[in-house]
Amino acid sequence: MGKSVLVVNGPNLNLLGAREPEIYGHTTLKDIEDLCLQKASDLGLELAFMQSNHEGAMLDAIQGAASRHDGIILNAGAFTHTSVALHDALKAVGLPCVEVHLSNVFAREEFRHHSFISPVAIGVICGFGVMSYRLALEALTDKFEQ
Ligand code: DQA
Repeated sequence: MGKSVLVVNGPNLNLLGAREPEIYGHTTLKDIEDLCLQKASDLGLELAFMQSNHEGAMLDAIQGAASRHDGIILNAGAFTHTSVALHDALKAVGLPCVEVHLSNVFAREEFRHHSFISPVAIGVICGFGVMSYRLALEALTDKFEQ
C-alpha cells in the first residue's frame, strides 16, 4: 500500500493568493493542494491536508498523524518561530517531517531566522514557493525508500 503523508499548514496560510503577493505569490492554498495531489499521484503517495490558525488544532492533527500517516509536511507559518509545543509534538510522534516555507525565511527579518521545527525535522525546504511542497514530497518519498 502507498505511504500516506499529512500536509499541515499553519496560521494565515488560508489567505494565500491575497496575502502579501509580492512575498507569497498569487497561488492559493487550494492551488498548492492541487499541485501536491498531482505530484503525489506521480510518486504513488496518499495525501491528507489540514490548515489551521490555531496552534492547538495543529497539535491535535500532528498527534493524530501517528496512527494514520507515514510522514508530515509542515509549514507552521509564524508558529515556526515561536512554538515549543509543535516542536514537542513532532518529537513525540516521531514521524519523518519536512519543514517547508514558501519564502526564503533567511533573506527576511531576523526573527524568521530561528525555527523551533528544524531541530525535529529531517530537513528544511524554503524559498521555492509552491515548489517547496513538491520538493518536500520528493524528499519524503526518498526517505520512505531508505
Ligand atoms: C512562511 C514564513 C513564515 O515566517 C511566515 O510567518 C509565514 C509563512 C512561509 O511559507 O514562507 O506565515 O512559513
